Amino acid sequence: MAKKIPHRLYLTEDQMPKQWYNLRADMKQQHDPLLNPATLKPVKVEDLYPIFCEELAHQEMDCTTRYFDIPEEIQEFYKMYRPSPLVRAYNLEKALKTPAKIYFKYEGNNTSGSHKLNSAIAQAYYAKKQGLKGLTTETGAGQWGTALAEACAFYNLPLTVYMVKVSYEQKPFRKTVMQTYGAEIVPSPSNTTKIGQEILKENPDTGGSLGCAISEAIEKAMSNPGYRYVLGSVLNQVLLHQSIIGLESKIALEMLDEYPDIVIGCAGGGSNLGGLIAPFMQDKLTGKASPRIVAVEPASCPSLTRGKYAYDFCDTGRVTPLARMYTLGSRFIPSANHAGGLRYHGMSPILSKLYHDGYMEAIAVEQTKVFEAAVLFAKQETILPAPESAHAIRAAIDEAIRCRETGEAKTILFGLTGTGYFDMTAYNSYLSGTMTDYIPSDENLQKGFDLLPKVN
Ligand SMILES: Cc1ncc(COP(=O)(O)O)c(C=O)c1O
Repeated sequence: MAKKIPHRLYLTEDQMPKQWYNLRADMKQQHDPLLNPATLKPVKVEDLYPIFCEELAHQEMDCTTRYFDIPEEIQEFYKMYRPSPLVRAYNLEKALKTPAKIYFKYEGNNTSGSHKLNSAIAQAYYAKKQGLKGLTTETGAGQWGTALAEACAFYNLPLTVYMVKVSYEQKPFRKTVMQTYGAEIVPSPSNTTKIGQEILKENPDTGGSLGCAISEAIEKAMSNPGYRYVLGSVLNQVLLHQSIIGLESKIALEMLDEYPDIVIGCAGGGSNLGGLIAPFMQDKLTGKASPRIVAVEPASCPSLTRGKYAYDFCDTGRVTPLARMYTLGSRFIPSANHAGGLRYHGMSPILSKLYHDGYMEAIAVEQTKVFEAAVLFAKQETILPAPESAHAIRAAIDEAIRCRETGEAKTILFGLTGTGYFDMTAYNSYLSGTMTDYIPSDENLQKGFDLLPKVN
């Protein structure tokens, strides 16, 4: 008799991965190196020490170590909210009348309401180990800021969070959660930094962007001895920590004798997608399997689908090293859409390279269609998804509908990165019919491309 697949599969604590997987070790070609913006020479690990803590700088640059041991303290912390369940979306399948099998890995089961805590605790741990005095960061939707506030509270590390102004205004209670954990929150752009003042002078009504908030957070860290900056996405080290998502998913699927035909994740800076796909991409890179891998981004901020593969700054203030990635230009400020965590001008250099080399697909979806999917999912599966996560839901639903049309029983795995409890302004806008879909014109995007740094 065929095995009955449970609604939710939780690994035991003993089955949880004890190592992170570094995808770069299996890539045939590495992404281009980070460049020092002053000299245009490749950055050396020591060059990163003034910005990042040392252990993380090493993780950033290491493209040969395949597996990194997860320090025991981090493993213990993970056990407070992991393993996260692998869920079979039986009710969604039924509602869609699809022969497809839909699975999702649910990362919303911690106070940050997202996968972000997986990297936040690692970054706070290494900062504490180095004896740092405090950390600074940016947050878009607020999940990363909350995750880092939780992690810093655990290690008693002071934290300043620059929060993108539109999110700060749309989600006042996010600020309160972060303050509960002891973090200081500054809406960005602000007058507290030189770069914030400059941006405000140019564009006083701006709602901000992740790029601006990153510049402010770096400026604050660089001007306070003993402080370092940490980032919740984009960087190689963050993808490394997030590989726990994919590793757990793969173990759980193996226990069910399943393997995904399609793996889908939303893509902001690329951390959840990079983490979810890591072991499946390993199979693809090493020729063991060839699942389709799909990145889903908002049509209003289409870095993979309409961006340029070019060297660019990771922040608006142009203080970071240059990374070669798919980008809309570091001065591009996306419209105030409701998926704050997907409003980043660039994309992880690892994912950009894999996409450029044809290992991954990307699609862009409009926010009304995303919310239509979010509401259907919430009604069928009871979880109220974050708008970011609902991008992946949209794509999974569309794939399942295609299966209904072709009669194929494909296995679909998507990342449900978080919950949307703080996104009621967004849900309200959708439910009241006032939500609009902003898609930038080619001329609009060209303005961002015109300001790309000239690197030969
Ligand atoms: C719930 C959720 N999902 C996805 C993302 C996108 O980030 P990333 O591409 O780094 O996974 C965010 C970012 O804030 C988020 O909060």
